[in-house]
Amino acid sequence: MNLKQMVGEKAAEYIKEGMVVGLGTGSTAYYMVEALGRRVNEGLNIIGVTTSTRTKEQAEGLGIPLKSVDEVDVIDITIDGADEISRDFQGIKGGGGALLFEKIVADYSKKVIWIVDESKMVDELGAFPLPIEVMPYGSLQLFKIFEAKGYQPEFRLDEAGEKYVTDGGHLLIDLNMKEIKEPHALATWLDGLTGVVEHGLFLDRVNTVIVGYENGPVVKEV
Ligand code: A5P
Repeated sequence: MNLKQMVGEKAAEYIKEGMVVGLGTGSTAYYMVEALGRRVNEGLNIIGVTTSTRTKEQAEGLGIPLKSVDEVDVIDITIDGADEISRDFQGIKGGGGALLFEKIVADYSKKVIWIVDESKMVDELGAFPLPIEVMPYGSLQLFKIFEAKGYQPEFRLDEAGEKYVTDGGHLLIDLNMKEIKEPHALATWLDGLTGVVEHGLFLDRVNTVIVGYENGPVVKEV
């Protein structure tokens, strides 16, 4: 079993009868959704809230009952992947392009679990490019601001070589910062930039991290 599958299946065990469950996006969350689909087909009653078109299509195909984030009162638990997690459990997400919906669903969840293989655990954030979701209008001005800061911005492209458009209808600019010494200060600065819709810094947002190692999953309570 690969490590992503291991943690995906481990995380699915946290889902109990009657829960409203946030379903993350990405190649690790994929396995959690597959495992959940099997349990639903065995009789488990839950409601899923998806974080992307991709996960929605997967969940629908498995017969998982779904509601939108605006149709539920509270989400009991959200299980999602991450691109990097630092020693103090801060994260970068959005490598799969779903960061905005992922952050919205996480923020309305009572509990958030991240599932990663061991390669995602890092000393400090920043080797993974930080995705910034921006309004198309004025995006080149933002690009120039990031460039002037030395953050080596790149517009995310799709398979056809066109600018990648998110489920929310926005563009993504990836920042190649190499290292992020002060993630909270950076997040505050990004939050204040007009035209930035959301960014991939997920700070102080996770309750449990399940890390896949060769000899088994390790659950870390934050
Ligand atoms: C999607 O936008 C991301 O936040 C993913 O959760 C993250 O990129 C992890 O993806 P993988 O599990 O595919 O590495």
